[in-house]
Amino acid sequence: MNFIRFSDLCAQGRVAGKKVFIRADLNVPQDDSGRITEDTRIRASLACVRMALEAGAAVMLTSHLGRPTEGVLRAQDSLAPVAIRMGQLLGRPVPLLADWVDGVRLDGHELATGQLVMLENCRVNRGEKKNSDELAKKMALLCDIFVHDAFGTAHRAEASTYGIAAFAPVACAGPLLAAEIDAITRALKAPRRPLVAIVAGSKVSTKLSILNSLARNVDQLIVGGGIANTFMLAAGLKIGKSLAEPDLVDQAKTVMRAMQERGAAVPIPTDVVTAKVFQADAPASTKAATEVQDDDLILDIGPETARRLAGQLMQAGTIVWNGPVGVFEFPAFEGGTRAIARAIAASSAFSIAGGGDTLAAIAKYGIEDKIGYISTGGGAFLEVLEGKTLPAFDILARRCAS
Ligand code: 3PG
Repeated sequence: MNFIRFSDLCAQGRVAGKKVFIRADLNVPQDDSGRITEDTRIRASLACVRMALEAGAAVMLTSHLGRPTEGVLRAQDSLAPVAIRMGQLLGRPVPLLADWVDGVRLDGHELATGQLVMLENCRVNRGEKKNSDELAKKMALLCDIFVHDAFGTAHRAEASTYGIAAFAPVACAGPLLAAEIDAITRALKAPRRPLVAIVAGSKVSTKLSILNSLARNVDQLIVGGGIANTFMLAAGLKIGKSLAEPDLVDQAKTVMRAMQERGAAVPIPTDVVTAKVFQADAPASTKAATEVQDDDLILDIGPETARRLAGQLMQAGTIVWNGPVGVFEFPAFEGGTRAIARAIAASSAFSIAGGGDTLAAIAKYGIEDKIGYISTGGGAFLEVLEGKTLPAFDILARRCAS
């Protein structure tokens, strides 16, 4: 896909003295007291900010945080904790500005070269969600160059992610957005084979179109969690009272057939770890997949299945990972996810992982530096895996062509 890269503009000396507006995704989790509990997205956004400052720009940086009501800035929607964290990471204060749509001034002056200001939660601006032209045009007027670096929000067509890109004098992709699309393209367009995808999580319905699209491309489609339970039903196995979507058994069969016709497979668990109740301290029992009782809950894959899947991951050329295969938050049911994580870490395959739970599992097993690429996207990562062109790339490609 063709789009202008901010790094190229910087290298060509076209950024010095310019006003640069960066849309990042700084939507980080916070606890009840507003403390940031995980700052990956802030750290991932630093490269773009540094690049702009080093290139001699005056820099405006904004993001959404949560899903606030437009027109009201409540304390819990403020980017204040994010500005403080970013200031700590950059080693300089990051002033935060509210009511910025009609003009950005710092201490009463136009923003100067080398200055950086954070603009309050862009989702409190009226018209943001609906991608209002009026709002987008006002934001575009603030800058010479618009940089989209918010991969996590690249699947949303909002005023600060889409409209502004249409109206700004120059619209380009920041280094994070470009790196994300490069990594996913590398994993899916011409992958080193075998290509193995792990798609796990509670619901088939939310991931059905991803499963359908991956079924056309991957060599092994490893399913886990509630998704695996639905596939076990489709394979004629009993799953007791485990989480599943019986209505989607036919769809699961279609995915399995599509894979088989290409000589590929959806490996079905041969053993599982079950409990009678969904609790961290519930007694766990490991049993053959054919031995699941009516009152059992399947909470993990069993060790034999984990070994088999780990073996396939060790043979893989490329691995795409979205979702833990069991309730890895409970020690008795983390064996499958831990085995998968360790196999991915030990494999020589190019691996790419994304999604909130997956990132939590990667952190738990300390394998961050063994994953080829860790995506900052949740919904955006899934939509790219589905084969969709995200609005962010669509508008940047059109601006590049115009
Ligand atoms: C995310 O957390 O996935 C992104 O920041 C997008 O947030 P949204 O789903 O509220 O648009």
